[in-house]
Amino acid sequence: MGTRIISGKGTTEDAPLDASLRPKYLKDFVGQEKVKNNIKIAIAAAQKRGEALDHILLYGPPGLGKTTLAYIIATEIGINIKISSGPAIERPGDLAAILTNLHKKDVLFIDEIHRLSHHVEEILYPAMEDFALDIILGKGPGARNLRLNLPQFTLIGATTRFGLMSPPLRDRFGAVYRLDFYDEPAIRAILKRSSNIIDIETEEGAFNQIAQRARGTPRVANRLLKRVRDYAQVMANGVITKHIALEALSKLEVDPIGLDEVDHKVLHTIIDKFDGGPVGLDTIAASINEDPDTITDVYEPYLLQLGFLERTPRGRLATRLAYEHLGLPHKKEQTTQPGLW
Ligand SMILES: Nc1ncnc2c1ncn2[C@@H]1O[C@H](COP(=O)(O)OP(=O)(O)OP(=O)(O)O)[C@@H](O)[C@H]1O
Ligand SMILES: [Mg+2]
Repeated sequence: MGTRIISGKGTTEDAPLDASLRPKYLKDFVGQEKVKNNIKIAIAAAQKRGEALDHILLYGPPGLGKTTLAYIIATEIGINIKISSGPAIERPGDLAAILTNLHKKDVLFIDEIHRLSHHVEEILYPAMEDFALDIILGKGPGARNLRLNLPQFTLIGATTRFGLMSPPLRDRFGAVYRLDFYDEPAIRAILKRSSNIIDIETEEGAFNQIAQRARGTPRVANRLLKRVRDYAQVMANGVITKHIALEALSKLEVDPIGLDEVDHKVLHTIIDKFDGGPVGLDTIAASINEDPDTITDVYEPYLLQLGFLERTPRGRLATRLAYEHLGLPHKKEQTTQPGLW
């Protein structure tokens, strides 16, 4: 599967753009007001006590600003941040090495924290709770347990899959924040900020068109802006007018509310093949030859947010709104109509 323009997941192509557009301070971070306020208070309280900030877990769909927030928190406190990720920390020894290299109040950011192995997690529990590292020296009856003190640090974990995290790990975070999709005004504000930073002239109407298709996701918004900018530079004089934006966006095969071919396939599969559902996620994934994880991470959250899909105990159900968007008669209408005669 090629990279999808509307996927919130980052790609290597996004990396330079992500870095240059990433807000550095809380005041530049658009939206997510509740989360921002809570973080502000937590930072102020920790600084007043002279202690490290409580461990923080950030979760939500890809591209909504988890990594950005982790960096911002470190910058706001004025301390170092060490970056790692669940899959990168393979063995308990890898984590022990990271922990013993931390300094007081440092932030350790672990991305995709749901992918830590059980053995690695066990090292993390005492480290988070007591700032201690338990090491077993030797083997068999002569083995001794040695406890090393670690500096007080803050763990910031990020995950797109809260449900896959083990409960003992979840429980050890002092604060858990869920990032939600952004509303259109927030996405417009992000687009304006980005447009200023990359120094392109953009018409108000163009912002609206891009924002409508950005799936409430800053990373997608920035990616669309970049594509439209490229188009404007090659096909016009570089200014992004509404007309140019619409022309560029239509070439990207994203519909007016940001759905692409795979979203349409998902909906059509449920509606055409499974009579609107309910149908299990794995069945949908198999029918359209797509990875179930990608559906859960990238496609489903937005379709749920739009109210096009419903999760039921027996599987996914396409709603009336989905039928309407695709221009199909709703199942219920089809079946109840004859009864009215
Ligand atoms: N609130 C925001 N205001 C402005 N820009 C934002 C905001 N949130 C995210 N961005 C932009 O979107 C990009 C992607 O955000 P980020 O990398 O933090 O997402 P993420 O949640 O960590 O995604 P992933 O789950 O893929 O790791 C950032 O580089 C930044 O430019
Ligand atoms: Mg990230």
